[in-house]
Amino acid sequence: MRFAKRRSALSGTLASAHTVGTGLVIAALTFTMAALLLPVKLFESAALAGPNGVVINDDGEGVWNTQYGPLTPIDRDFVRKVRGAGLWEGPAGRQAVERATTDAVRIAGEHLIEGHTELDEMSIEVGRELGIDLPNQPNEQQQQALSTLEQAQIGIDFERKFANILRKAHGQVFGLIGQVRAQTTNSLVRDLATRANAVVLDHITVLEATGLVDYERLFDDFPSNPARAAAPLASRSTRRQGSTTA
Ligand SMILES: [Fe+2]
Repeated sequence: MRFAKRRSALSGTLASAHTVGTGLVIAALTFTMAALLLPVKLFESAALAGPNGVVINDDGEGVWNTQYGPLTPIDRDFVRKVRGAGLWEGPAGRQAVERATTDAVRIAGEHLIEGHTELDEMSIEVGRELGIDLPNQPNEQQQQALSTLEQAQIGIDFERKFANILRKAHGQVFGLIGQVRAQTTNSLVRDLATRANAVVLDHITVLEATGLVDYERLFDDFPSNPARAAAPLASRSTRRQGSTTA
């Protein structure tokens, strides 16, 4: 009887040990799966994050072989972005020319129209040659920017919004152009990036020449920007005193 009880207690202990063991195996497997999946998640996120907060859209079609060299998803996204820029910066430039109350804003508008007329032609030609489908309408964000400008009051309200919205967009795409220009192995994309680099720098220059750019707020949407993170607080507040609020 006593033996039977002891045996029963022993089998209970073994059963609970077995349960604990099973639990540990499940926990270990779960941990292993999580460890395997985590780098994939991080890699996927990193692949979509471009320089200065710009989003790189992967069309999922891999690398194409073309007579001008391999064409990567980033190359194709860049060509689409150049064309997309013209779809809203051209109209934004025309608004500036029509509504400007200062020469600097009018000149900035003229440069936008001129630069994107040229880049439109180049990107359409490159897209046709390489078989890349291009946008033909501003995307939602670009339409919102144009609406913001249309609704702004003529004068300092419009001009501050024009200078800051456009300057911010150019700052974001400037890093992507540099990356594509440095890394692409496709000769047509390289030529487009060379020209786009010059045009975008010109647009940054004329927008800043309006004297209306608030440099502090250019980084509001991408706080992880290393230049901002490295800036000492004292120098930030000093610069803030001299900056213009849009
Ligand atoms: Fe531009």
